[in-house]
Amino acid sequence: MKRTLFLLGTLFAMNAFGAAPDIYHKGWIDLNKNGMKDVYEDSTQPVEKRVDDLLKQMTLDEKIGQLHQNTYDVGAEKIYKDEIERGDMGSFFGGGLIIETPIHRNALQRIAVENTRLGIPLIFGHDAIHGFRTIFPIPLGQACAWEPELFERTQRISARETSAGGNDWTFSPMVDLGRDPRWGRIAEGFGEDPYLGCLYAAANVRGFQGTNVADPESVVACMKHFVGYGAAEGGRDYNTTEISEFTLRNFYLPQFKAGIDAGAWTVMSAFNCLSGFPASANRHVLNDILRDEWHFQGFVVSDYQAVEQLIPHGVAADANEAARIAIKAGVDMEMVSSNYETLPQQIQGGKVSQATVDEAVRRILRVKFIKGLFEKPYTDTTRYKDAYLRPDALVLAEEAAAKSCVLLKNEGDALPISKRAKKIALIGPLGDARAEMLGCWASRGRPQDAVSLATGIRGKLAAGSKLTVTPGCNITNNTADIKGAVSAAKEADVVVLALGEPRDWSGESKSRTHLGVPGRQMELFRAIVATGKPVIVVLFNGRPLTIPEIDTNAAAILEAWQGGVEAGNGVADVLFGDTGPSGRLTISFPYDVGQIPIYYNHYNTGRPGIGEYKGNYVDAPITPLYPFGYGLTYTKFDYGKVQVSPSRLNPGGTLTATAQVKNTGDRAGTEVVQLYIRDIAATAGPRPVRELKGFKKIHLNPGESKKVTFTLSMHDLGYFDPAGHWLVEPGKFQLWICKDSASGKPVDFELQ
Ligand code: BGC
Repeated sequence: MKRTLFLLGTLFAMNAFGAAPDIYHKGWIDLNKNGMKDVYEDSTQPVEKRVDDLLKQMTLDEKIGQLHQNTYDVGAEKIYKDEIERGDMGSFFGGGLIIETPIHRNALQRIAVENTRLGIPLIFGHDAIHGFRTIFPIPLGQACAWEPELFERTQRISARETSAGGNDWTFSPMVDLGRDPRWGRIAEGFGEDPYLGCLYAAANVRGFQGTNVADPESVVACMKHFVGYGAAEGGRDYNTTEISEFTLRNFYLPQFKAGIDAGAWTVMSAFNCLSGFPASANRHVLNDILRDEWHFQGFVVSDYQAVEQLIPHGVAADANEAARIAIKAGVDMEMVSSNYETLPQQIQGGKVSQATVDEAVRRILRVKFIKGLFEKPYTDTTRYKDAYLRPDALVLAEEAAAKSCVLLKNEGDALPISKRAKKIALIGPLGDARAEMLGCWASRGRPQDAVSLATGIRGKLAAGSKLTVTPGCNITNNTADIKGAVSAAKEADVVVLALGEPRDWSGESKSRTHLGVPGRQMELFRAIVATGKPVIVVLFNGRPLTIPEIDTNAAAILEAWQGGVEAGNGVADVLFGDTGPSGRLTISFPYDVGQIPIYYNHYNTGRPGIGEYKGNYVDAPITPLYPFGYGLTYTKFDYGKVQVSPSRLNPGGTLTATAQVKNTGDRAGTEVVQLYIRDIAATAGPRPVRELKGFKKIHLNPGESKKVTFTLSMHDLGYFDPAGHWLVEPGKFQLWICKDSASGKPVDFELQ
């Protein structure tokens, strides 16, 4: 069919790349030979009919083109133009110039929409993990707020900014369970708990996709990395994982399912080898579970060159085999590598069926229709100019930075700092380090947009107070002026020591074996402690660190993570008590690397407890330094007796668990009241020693108390067997209402 194009509105010069026109689509009408619109072009038609109609008209080469995602390299514009015109490309992911302004993106899109036979739009993706220009705290930090709605709001703003930059799709959220802080990507996830992980996965998807994914301010979400990527052996990125089906079902898969149930339209297949076969060609998870069991209707994109990597993985001899096993397993779009170019020949040779390719194309087209790309292929170029760092985004970024902070220690009420303090010394390499606040995967975040802790503290000081700022040492190397820092500490009334790790030690391929603060920071810490001043340590890092010595000798420790553009203001809010610390750890802090993996929801051993021939270490505790759920406030909360009713639950019934929580301190504070259960005996496999099943964040004034009530249904008591059946079994359970995963006394109940 020959396309006839009528341009409506202003006719604008098509200048593919040299000077891309700063205008957006005004509207084209495509008429078929009968002078009618095709079904696929008619937005009033159901999506599936449109997909069918388009698929019928596509050549095999055009279909294969839809399966290919390219990255954007400056200088290769002519090549892209030719490739798009040939129909060799279905998607771009934004690097370099393509993002932040949609101008180049629109120019590429114009080639696809106006210079190709069928005018199928490209879909543009980008990694907006915790913001686009307005960078929010790293996801692990945001999870510590125990407030999924807050994450939904920050991701809504990410969507607004990401889409203004010309992106239709984001490779986010990363929902990989994290049990190993050596693994640098732990910063991108939500921690070690699947219950919280599910809430956060769904909140992220709602934030990105909004109530209508076709809204120009929404972006398509991508659940990644499917699956098991976080269980890399030795915490070494990309490494092999061995996860039993039982553990996969109960710990690693639920977050993906929650995101898909919340409407996520895409999934990214992971780099890792999963229990004997690479995840990016793993039929069992990509097909049997994702499609057959969960009925996922969107498409799967491979991780970066993950199809090609099937060769070094040792399961494909060449590009043909790599393409064949990946597409057959259910990877629809190939990111960056181009092994799928071999598919036409393989179809001719009968090695891959046409139906397999059609199905992959169908899923991709479906998402493009649902995103509304056929109706609105271009990004409005008037939007990006005032879309970034808007006041509402910055206010939210400060709130998120403050709520991410977890108070780990506060001896002698060293915190909050009085605003009347006359002389404050801010020491440490992270005290005035704007770029470091952004964390890993900071998208288009700019150091100059970020507020350092020094600036945040300055904003709190009363007239006449003095702040001295000195790094004392470099974050990682040998450079130091420890003497200068000691003099500053000696002269001060309050000493704040900002320590941690560099932001580029977290994220992809940033695994560590030592988890202490690097460089000469411990030497600095010891020298400052030796002055005899109470030391308030603020930690900026992307993973749990091993800090037993800091725990012993600091007066106070505030875990601030990497708080984004408003980190300095948010952390200062907490340090000075304008916002009370309300964060709780969603990941355990080990004493020592040798304890890893360490997580609260582990199975019991057959020899629990401490002692000879028990499962303990001879040289370290088996408990973490700070457990999951842990975090202090500037006040104290007492928990009354936990009541459970009924104590024998009938099938189909509900159980109510209550406890009175009282603020017994003299400041207002926010408590995260946590509910855990334990299933004492399960037939398909052991259940963890504790499992989070609910939490309530409550704010109480001094002396105020509140009855906190949780309701559990039978569903909350179930688990998956290795075949994926949800089992709810009669028997004995324990239940805790408590402040963290290591406290409280259990009460018993029974499911009949
Ligand atoms: C990462 C993904 C990311 C992709 C595109 C890969 O290396 O593993 O998480 O989405 O690159 O940037």
